[in-house]
Amino acid sequence: MSSLPLDRILQSQGFGTRKYCRQLIEDGAVSINGAVIDNYRQTFETKDLEFSLFDEVWRYREHVYIAMNKPAGHECSLKPSHHPPVIDLLPEQMRWREVQPVGRLDHDTTGLLLLSDDGAFIHAQSSPKRHVPKLYVATTHAPIDEALLQALRSGVQLHDEPALLAATHCRQLGAHELEIALEQGKYHQVKRMLAAAGNHCTALRRVAIGGLTLESLGLAEGDWIFLEAEELARLNAQPEA
Ligand code: URA
Repeated sequence: MSSLPLDRILQSQGFGTRKYCRQLIEDGAVSINGAVIDNYRQTFETKDLEFSLFDEVWRYREHVYIAMNKPAGHECSLKPSHHPPVIDLLPEQMRWREVQPVGRLDHDTTGLLLLSDDGAFIHAQSSPKRHVPKLYVATTHAPIDEALLQALRSGVQLHDEPALLAATHCRQLGAHELEIALEQGKYHQVKRMLAAAGNHCTALRRVAIGGLTLESLGLAEGDWIFLEAEELARLNAQPEA
């Protein structure tokens, strides 16, 4: 259990500097249980705390775990060079909280992207020792044939990689569409594997991480949600066969 003064609560949730948060409170912008709290020193138990800021309700979260359906045309880098950053698709306080993407999707890749301000979570999720498959749907330029699927399953040689890289699962969905699961997260891995196998990827969407599917979250492109414990647990589960 932890009890904190209201100005520190607001600051911890990314609503600005301590000075700015005090001003918001003194201006009557914050209410708890329907009552305006204008004393920034008043303390509150943070567990399950809900507060309204300018009539918008927020729940206190020590850390945030976010799933986004990333649209094309956004970079995962916080200092992007050619396209707006994905962080711009979240409320401004997520930048104040130093929320960052967990791993990277290319600017033209869409689909399931995790973001968090929990360093330990980001580190654990990004670790190569974590053999949780990430599932992608790739559209290809040339029609898909059995030889391509076999090459992806048995492993292809990528430049600068000491060993062959293989998909843990690969199946054809349509003439130009396949599903591919990878346990590693090498740079442009799906696109490079398809190129090494003699085809070309024209569109790519990540549809699952572990047992957490984009479909189960029901997110339209560009939308996001906070993940709760049950969904976080699914990240570490194996995908359903
Ligand atoms: N593989 C790619 O080639 N690009 C991505 O964005 C993700 C995986």
